Amino acid sequence: MTTSDYDTFAAAYASENDASLHNHYYERPAMVRLAGDVDGRRVLDAGCGSGPLTAALQEKGAVVTAFDASREMVGLARQRLGADADLHVADLGAPLPFDDDAFDDVVASLVLHYLQDWVAPLRELRRVLRPGGRVILSVPHPSVYLVNYGGSTYFDVTRYSEEFTFDGQEAVLTYWHRPLHAMSDAFTEAGFQISVISEPPHAADTPRDLLPEHLRDRTAFVCFLFFVLEAR
Ligand SMILES: C[S@@+](CC[C@H](N)C(=O)[O-])C[C@H]1O[C@@H](n2cnc3c(N)ncnc32)[C@H](O)[C@@H]1O
Repeated sequence: MTTSDYDTFAAAYASENDASLHNHYYERPAMVRLAGDVDGRRVLDAGCGSGPLTAALQEKGAVVTAFDASREMVGLARQRLGADADLHVADLGAPLPFDDDAFDDVVASLVLHYLQDWVAPLRELRRVLRPGGRVILSVPHPSVYLVNYGGSTYFDVTRYSEEFTFDGQEAVLTYWHRPLHAMSDAFTEAGFQISVISEPPHAADTPRDLLPEHLRDRTAFVCFLFFVLEAR
């Protein structure tokens, strides 16, 4: 199986994502909160998947353009968002089909860790953002890799794979662990400064039975790491 190929499990992933603890009750609310008041802002959703964050930001008045490398995921986003939605099949690891200064914000939910190099993609996001624009992003928290895989490769950018079951369908995701200092170095090299680092709680309305038993007495757990970057 080609790993990280969302085309092969797009519908199963999208269905899982729409109701899961990790996406629906934790990652997405945190991204929306960090984005804040987006009414009237031009937002690019990079790695949009089936478009749940695009939809949430549209509901808050943002004018959203979205893209994903997976044609199947973009097809599902089209079903969710309608024929008029501004959706593209495009690769964050390549030049993007958007003009300079076209957006006020970029949101990149759980996508950058699929890329070995971050500097060129972040420079490309810098190009399509207006000066002072923001990138709001989430990635797997690097300390989770440290806990799960030990310290030996923590300081290296390291490729690894994990198995998942999405809505009953088995899938393998392959992505890149990146230590915290390498994230910060890439942001600086690409022309951004960090304005927020966030380790947010899960949503207050998270159904108790979705939480593993040992987490039920807590409002937060370590899973993803969130940044707001500002284009210098
Ligand atoms: C974990 S999913 C997140 C989807 C969506 N952002 C969300 O949070 O619901 C990762 C998405 O990134 C997309 N992706 C992976 N590599 C990409 C790349 N190089 N360029 C654009 N999208 C990519 C996948 O196709 C998939 O839809």
